[in-house]
Amino acid sequence: MPKIGDIELPDFPLLLAPMEDVSDPPFRALCKEQGADVVYTEFISSEGLIRDAAKSVMKLDIYEKERPVGIQIFGANLESMLQSVEIVEKSKPDIIDINFGCPVKKVVSKGAGAGILKDIDLMVSLTEAMAKHTKLPITVKTRLGWDEDSIKIVEVAERLQDVGCKAIAIHGRTRAQMYKGSAKWEPIAEVKNNPRMHIPVFGNGDVDSPEAAVRMRDEYGLDGAMIGRASIGYPWFFKEVKQYIKTGIRIAPPTMTERVQAARRHLEMAIDWKGEKLGVFETRRHYTNYFKGIPNFKEYRMKMVTSDDAVDVFAAFDEVLEKFGDYEFEHA
Ligand SMILES: Cc1cc2nc3c(=O)[nH]c(=O)nc-3n(C[C@H](O)[C@H](O)[C@H](O)COP(=O)(O)O)c2cc1C
Repeated sequence: MPKIGDIELPDFPLLLAPMEDVSDPPFRALCKEQGADVVYTEFISSEGLIRDAAKSVMKLDIYEKERPVGIQIFGANLESMLQSVEIVEKSKPDIIDINFGCPVKKVVSKGAGAGILKDIDLMVSLTEAMAKHTKLPITVKTRLGWDEDSIKIVEVAERLQDVGCKAIAIHGRTRAQMYKGSAKWEPIAEVKNNPRMHIPVFGNGDVDSPEAAVRMRDEYGLDGAMIGRASIGYPWFFKEVKQYIKTGIRIAPPTMTERVQAARRHLEMAIDWKGEKLGVFETRRHYTNYFKGIPNFKEYRMKMVTSDDAVDVFAAFDEVLEKFGDYEFEHA
């Protein structure tokens, strides 16, 4: 069974990927209830943390019920990253994850995220310093390389392991690919097949069906799957994958009642966590997926995404249940 430091995980664990503006405490809690074995916060700027920027600090909140949880930070400055480790420790996460994979320009241009793939020595030395600076397990999430011509992920992963990284999650794309094309899992399997590797190697990118997760385990031999987009507005994905792995059968998609219940709980937890205004506003992005595929739904979706008052959104959920309660969903 894979272990991250002392954290014991089940066979082929499923990890909720860090996702900006998505992987907040309410969403993580829902994914955890549906079977996610490890959840991660969205990436948090080390520079923001050390300046005590409210937006960054709020992202450190975690619920007890979501453990084990990893807090992900990004940055390229050693001093800021070490200070951030100390700040993050106060939130008592189970894991501190370093983002060495974010492809967006404003992050990369500062040498952080995937930008560090242009300076592997710095990537290794930052990881080493952070691992030495805390008793919590340090893990890394990264991409295959900067571009097609500079893929050295086997060597990079081994070096990270040797300086104290306790697990690595690899998105099977290069920075140059951004989110284009399809994720390649072969190079991730090469990392896993390196006989010197002993830390868990988790695969990430395009795990969009239970069958894909099984392929990642059986054909590529990876230690677990990190799942991002397939879970957005669909936390049941974790349960579907787990059931499929166990029985080879795809369970039926959630009913309308289950979807309305989840949307309701999501909104309740969001309001509880960040207040009504932000809670109502920031949960809107999930509704499209919760209620995907229902014909003639626009009127109801509009109510959910334009009401500023929680009471109106809850009323829209009730209306949806009444009107579409018998709708039979199909798998995406
Ligand atoms: C909306 C969104 C936000 C993301 N934010 C982060 C982030 O904060 N940190 C990170 O390491 N990756 C982030 N990613 C990348 C995902 O963690 C993941 O690597 C990528 O989506 C590929 O996995 P998937 O095909 O399962 O979605 C984000 C992806 C999406 C779609």
